[in-house]
Amino acid sequence: MSDSKIVKLVDESTSRSSELPLLSGTLGPACIDIGTLYKDTGHFTYDPGYGSTASTKSAITYIDGDEGVLLYRGYPIEQLAEKSSFLEVAYLLLNGELPKKEEFSAFEHQITHHTMMHESLKDFFKGFHHDAHPMAMLAASVASLSAFYHDDIDVDNAEDRKLAAIRLIAKMPTIAAACFRYSIGWPFRYPRNNLEYVDRFLHMMFEVPSEPLELSPVAAKALDLLFILHADHEQNASTSTVRLVGSTGANPYASIAAGITALWGPAHGGANEAVLKMLEEIGSADKVETAVKRAKDKNDNFRLMGFGHRVYKNFDPRAKIIREMTHKVLNELGINDPLLDVAMKLEEAALKDDYFVERKLYPNVDFYSGIIYKALNIPTEMFTVMFAIARTAGWIAHWIEQHETPGARIGRPRQIYTGADVRNYMPVDKR
Ligand code: SDX
Repeated sequence: MSDSKIVKLVDESTSRSSELPLLSGTLGPACIDIGTLYKDTGHFTYDPGYGSTASTKSAITYIDGDEGVLLYRGYPIEQLAEKSSFLEVAYLLLNGELPKKEEFSAFEHQITHHTMMHESLKDFFKGFHHDAHPMAMLAASVASLSAFYHDDIDVDNAEDRKLAAIRLIAKMPTIAAACFRYSIGWPFRYPRNNLEYVDRFLHMMFEVPSEPLELSPVAAKALDLLFILHADHEQNASTSTVRLVGSTGANPYASIAAGITALWGPAHGGANEAVLKMLEEIGSADKVETAVKRAKDKNDNFRLMGFGHRVYKNFDPRAKIIREMTHKVLNELGINDPLLDVAMKLEEAALKDDYFVERKLYPNVDFYSGIIYKALNIPTEMFTVMFAIARTAGWIAHWIEQHETPGARIGRPRQIYTGADVRNYMPVDKR
């Protein structure tokens, strides 16, 4: 990290100036450090949507949006997708290095032995209406963990932070499966410690007391892959939310619950649910042209869900991997889903349409993931919950990194005030 160069900014109207250091990371563009700008010149910067703003330094994930590159702790996503597992990736995100054999065994053991939900959490579920959205139940249940573990959530204690990370990664599938089973009136299943992370989750989702569950290894492999691809994505909206909440000193469960609610929006993680609903609404490949026309019409709210990305101005590398996996999963499970034809036609039509080409709008991580989830019998409303299970690893890695960073301050952006100038209160009979 070199901080040698300086950018000088002069306000010609006041002659006040600021010498702003240029900060460089290991990879990626250098950043102008504007920390002293207000003190030196009396000005703030304005960047709604943070298109030009780095909010933090981080050593976890790197994205090159122009080249379509994604690295977790330096490892290309393609290599992790092919060779690793979600739990190994979670270890990597948290600890910075791939685990040695014994380190992984210890981590897996810890995760496996923190998977149970507190029995009282079951009663908490009873307060939800039967048709509550699973993301609403997930956010509330994760926030409620603060009430169960308040004795060991000292955010300044490294051991407590680590324990919270283990608990969150371990319990998220248990809570997610409970959200699903509650919504269909099935009894909750306890986690089975003889199973691996993803298999255990699929059992908690689909096992019924009356018969054993036959699980396809293809299903477990596909889900593990989706979890790897969704595990982290640097300062996206939900991770930035976790960091902003975390900057106040809020406990990890409250911080992650905030991340879950941020993820829910259709412009972010909620897009996977929205993609499937859109593909169903389009219905057949011959209606694709009309959909593309509507997506380009500024007077129409319709947008191609699963298309476009703030950072990627090239293919989202995760979308390429998921696209390939979608074909494999459907073939191996013997499923012929007409929605895949609609998705492929839509992708083809958009990629050669000037509107999408000029704006560099490519399919993102959420475009094909829903078709795989559907093939695994996961209901559409659970799609964003799936994303949240995986992203918990990234959220908590960022939350820990933030607490390990010396001199961190509360996040507190400023504004351009556009309201009324100062004025005097008028008694009601004079207004
Ligand atoms: C995720 O940030 C992350 O890293 C997120 C994520 C992660 O892993 O954490 O990658 C996960 O959230 C994926 C994104 C899922 N969202 C969607 O698929 C929803 C559909 N996409 C869009 O709403 C949109 O593309 C965003 C939200 C993803 C990005 O928004 P930006 O960066 O603010 O893009 P923009 O609005 O500046 O768009 C530029 C232009 C605009 O047109 P003009 O005003 O220049 O004429 O492209 C148009 C937009 O209207 N545009 C689209 C479009 N997306 C952008 N037009 C039609 N369909 C679309 N999907």
